[in-house]
Amino acid sequence: MSERSRNLPRRSCLSVPGSSEKMLGKAPNLGADMVVLDLEDAVAPLEKEPARDKVVKAINDLDWGDTVLCVRVNAWDTQWTYRDVVHVVENASDRLDEIMLPKVQSAAEVQALDLLLTQIELTTGRKSQVGIEAQIETARGLINVDDICAASPRLETIIFGPADFAASTEMPVLTGGVQVAEYPGDHFHYVFSKILMAGRANGLQVIDGPYLKIRELDALRDYAMRTRILGYDGKWALHPDQVTVINEVFTPTQEQFDRAIDILEAYEKATTEGDPGERKGAVMFGDEMIDEASRKMATKFLTRGERAGMSRSADTG
Ligand code: GLV
Ligand code: MG
Repeated sequence: MSERSRNLPRRSCLSVPGSSEKMLGKAPNLGADMVVLDLEDAVAPLEKEPARDKVVKAINDLDWGDTVLCVRVNAWDTQWTYRDVVHVVENASDRLDEIMLPKVQSAAEVQALDLLLTQIELTTGRKSQVGIEAQIETARGLINVDDICAASPRLETIIFGPADFAASTEMPVLTGGVQVAEYPGDHFHYVFSKILMAGRANGLQVIDGPYLKIRELDALRDYAMRTRILGYDGKWALHPDQVTVINEVFTPTQEQFDRAIDILEAYEKATTEGDPGERKGAVMFGDEMIDEASRKMATKFLTRGERAGMSRSADTG
């Protein structure tokens, strides 16, 4: 794993076609927590090889600030993968945090990437390890997601790919990643939950995939809230306008943030203060009972809020 990026926020993960110098040039300043420089499906087959150098140049020449920086290579079932990895990792600076591997079907595919990265790092003397982000977007990948999430210590992130997943499972839809009005519920609920469990069980950040209707920002807000509520860390963005909405959805409200701090303080006081025999594990907070589980829930709000630059309101505490 890349120690630099493992705990950085990934609320919004903006993907940028690696073949477009213009879009690469704008990418660092659009407010995304993470930028994915794409060599896969956003790049036409005839542009794939020249895109490698454009991506390397963007990594090395632009000022990325604190942004988590990732390159999505082509999947192992193409002819491009190994050269994507070798070319990018040999030539990119230590600023590259992660390689995203799309259409992952098995743990072996992650292990193959891990082995290749290890050899490149040994050869080049690269100081920091490159992390791996595995993308689940096929039926086989979802069946194997538990093993995939445990396949390598380099894994930092697991991410969903709804458009390819819909194609892989032969869903009768023409747009991936959006609500299907005819389905009484959320047709991806099982997928979202299964990926989340596998990711969390292995300490990974868990990211939702893209929402393809770029201009429908209210519908994006509504749909992103589903995975936010399940416990996801962030969502893929395809356009700068989506970044703003996604950052907002995946940041706690000020009220939630303040309340989390109040809960942590009340719990700390109850568990540590008082004479022996009087310290309590469960205590009333307003009209609800809080305990160790409340501390864990509140800590999540605190760390997510802090990662988003929040601080406690002046009038509380
Ligand atoms: C993204 O890669 C998707 O297939 O949705
Ligand atoms: Mg895909």
